[in-house]
Amino acid sequence: MIPILLPLLLVPLALLLLPAASAAPRTSSHSVFLQLRPGLCGEACQAALGSVQFSDAPPTRNIFEAHARSKLWLGSAVHCLDVFCESPGDIGEGYAAVRTALERFGGVDVGPAELWRNDTMRDEALIVDTLVSDPRVVYDVGVRPALHAYNVAYDTLYTWDLNQAFHHGFGEFLYLLLLVLIAQGLVSRLARHTRSGKRPADVEGESKPLLGASGRSASLGSRFVTWYRRTIDTPALFGYTHVAPAGSGWLSIPTRLEAAVVAVYVGFNVVFTFVGYTITAESIFWPGRKDIELIRYVADRTGIMCFWNLPLLWALAGRNNVVLWLTTWSYCALPPPSLSHTAPTHAPASLNLFHRWVARVATLQAVIHSLAYLYLGLERGQSLQSLWSRQYWAMGVIATFAMVLLLPLSVRPLRERAYELFLQLHIWLAFATLVLLFYHVKVMRGAYDGWLWACLGLWAFDRGLRYARVAALAWSAPRGNNTLALATGEEHGLLRLSVEVAACTPAPGAYYFLYTPRSLTPWENHPMTLASAEPSPGGKGTTLHFLIAPQAGATKRIADEVAAAGGKTHMRVLVEGPYGEHHDVSAFDRVLLIAGGSGVTAVLPYAAEQRDKADVAWIVPNAAYARDVCSRELAGSASAHVYVTRQAGVSAADVWGIEEVESSEDDDEEMSQLGEDERSSLLRKIPASRPKLLASSGRPPMRDVLAQAVSKLVGGERLAVLACGPPVMMDDLRLAVSEAYGHGLGQLSGDRLVYFEDAFGW
Ligand SMILES: Cc1cc2nc3c(=O)[nH]c(=O)nc-3n(C[C@H](O)[C@H](O)[C@H](O)COP(=O)(O)OP(=O)(O)OC[C@H]3O[C@@H](n4cnc5c(N)ncnc54)[C@H](O)[C@@H]3O)c2cc1C
Ligand SMILES: *[C@@H]1O[C@H](CO)[C@@H](O)[C@H](O)[C@H]1NC(C)=O
Ligand SMILES: *[C@@H]1O[C@H](CO)[C@@H](O)[C@H](O)[C@H]1NC(C)=O
Repeated sequence: MIPILLPLLLVPLALLLLPAASAAPRTSSHSVFLQLRPGLCGEACQAALGSVQFSDAPPTRNIFEAHARSKLWLGSAVHCLDVFCESPGDIGEGYAAVRTALERFGGVDVGPAELWRNDTMRDEALIVDTLVSDPRVVYDVGVRPALHAYNVAYDTLYTWDLNQAFHHGFGEFLYLLLLVLIAQGLVSRLARHTRSGKRPADVEGESKPLLGASGRSASLGSRFVTWYRRTIDTPALFGYTHVAPAGSGWLSIPTRLEAAVVAVYVGFNVVFTFVGYTITAESIFWPGRKDIELIRYVADRTGIMCFWNLPLLWALAGRNNVVLWLTTWSYCALPPPSLSHTAPTHAPASLNLFHRWVARVATLQAVIHSLAYLYLGLERGQSLQSLWSRQYWAMGVIATFAMVLLLPLSVRPLRERAYELFLQLHIWLAFATLVLLFYHVKVMRGAYDGWLWACLGLWAFDRGLRYARVAALAWSAPRGNNTLALATGEEHGLLRLSVEVAACTPAPGAYYFLYTPRSLTPWENHPMTLASAEPSPGGKGTTLHFLIAPQAGATKRIADEVAAAGGKTHMRVLVEGPYGEHHDVSAFDRVLLIAGGSGVTAVLPYAAEQRDKADVAWIVPNAAYARDVCSRELAGSASAHVYVTRQAGVSAADVWGIEEVESSEDDDEEMSQLGEDERSSLLRKIPASRPKLLASSGRPPMRDVLAQAVSKLVGGERLAVLACGPPVMMDDLRLAVSEAYGHGLGQLSGDRLVYFEDAFGW
């Protein structure tokens, strides 16, 4: 068994040693600082006597069994312990180690040491330097290893342990990444909470609508927040693309913060592959072959680090996981752009991004591990055929192939063009890898099963919770058809699914995975954002409304079914959820909600929650597209503007079915007669009583939409921007927001402007 806790203690030590350690291995000495295992003197004796042949040993090919059945060998071993172990306690531990090894690998329990302690044999014993003596000699008396042989054996074993401790210590260190992620998430949550309590102090500026007021007076702290948001937190790594794919659709560009985390993680893995090796001056395992010794340690290092990476990989993969609950890193966010039938593109959502990088690193480690062992095998003069005939070898090679295969099968174009194929291949190859790895480490007799069980455990936990979520929502809901499917708008319009489920109170930001159990592919499930929810008409449950922009797969099949039934039909839908993060915008004075096409589902719950504070800007292809939502979820809005891009001369009546309503001149007269305080409080109330529901033709630049919202701010008011839409729109907006940070005219300091992106990705 590998002691799990010991390496953990070694992590700080490892860090201390890092500068000293280098790719050039160091040489151990006997006086090293740690006694790693109590039974080491026993193992050293066993190793020093390993190749000695005795006349009373039976002719068996299992060398452990031969030793276990030879009185001479056992007597020699006990004698060796008596001579070299430092205390009676060490002798006990040392003998226990020998006995365990003989039983485990030779299948013989040799009983207690007293059976074999033989004074006659001790007095007659020959002192042999077993490292240099002729291995063909057969002894018929006891043998005591010379001090040199014992020391070399001890050093070799000690060094082995030391290297193991580094292999595992470095592996565990990678979990710091997880801690950093969690800490970052908690800190940013905390930061948002504390800031919501603290209101900006400069109230005296309230009379004039200020454009990025605080100017020169900005404190150091506020300047830092502004700088942080402008340079680190908000923009894409380089250039401008984040949500949209780069490199002809193959690449996803992370934000700077994400890139930094990935860089640190990959950096540690690289460094840990090169440092922290100790090589013996003289080795009993690889006499005279320091190169082979080093390659063996590199092989083990990469294999073990790969195993440590696997649970991390699984932890970052599930829908339900602790990392997600503790952090605010988005797992994936909101809907596709699709104003037409073109496939939407995916944003790199943080956890998925990390999942992919851990996968790449672990796969590379598996490849290095495999190649190194291949080299070691061939170097020992073994043929490929004989290597293949070993289970651990063949299984390991196939597992490595499976892991390598997973990489090209997960590229962005495949995920976008054939999502279901990608998903099925991904799941089955991942499962196959785990099973193969169980067979691969069978020779280690359970020592490495723990990591694999951890992966399975994480997987089972996620799956279990997924089914539990489905069951919980289906429990007291109607058994049969529980869904009304309605085609809204014209040909490329949205599909409204109203699903009756058990009573629940979802928060804004929630999304659910939808299953159609009566379809040809009942296992398929697709994430959809909750647009709104209300108590079910007759029943005790809740009706969830989803707006779907049909794509080419399952969503198209539903759309076809609805169209065939004349635009309205009943069906059975199971939902799994809720997932997703609720952005707490309650602390902000104004909330700008920007949506493109079906992205409106993401902002609707916030529009309802923040009714009086929210300005909705929705960009749609034509008026018919918007009508259903405008007559339902958006009907009660205080301020909403629908921009219609593919239809000229649109007026409010086309979209809202009413004339435009805006504050009239009366208001201004009324206002001028009021005092400052009354006026500003009235300003806040006006939108509630007199809704501004607008519609116009043409696509607005994101910068203008943002600038308009900024110009409406009064005094030190704070603005939250929450958006969901097509990639290009999102990237435009991300740029506009990062440029709006500052202390100049029309700019806002970091604590007055916060951007929440709900891009679509997975
Ligand atoms: C968190 C989240 C919320 C979403 N909310 C909405 C919403 O409210 N309204 C809406 O219309 N769309 C939403 N989507 C997008 C929606 O899930 C996909 O359009 C839908 O799954 C496409 O199904 P399909 O079989 O017709 O797709 P296909 O035509 O086969 O593929 C179209 C695109 O959808 C992607 N896709 C397919 N299946 C999935 C899946 N199971 N998970 C993730 N992506 C998939 C594909 O990679 C491809 O890019 C959301 C996506 C996510 C990740
Ligand atoms: C002790 O060893 C001697 C010679 O090596 C052997 O003849 C004798 O039988 C042993 N005694 C016991 C009790 O095993
Ligand atoms: C469910 O809806 C489908 C399609 O409208 C219909 O054919 C079927 O009869 C309905 N089932 C029940 C039990 O109402």
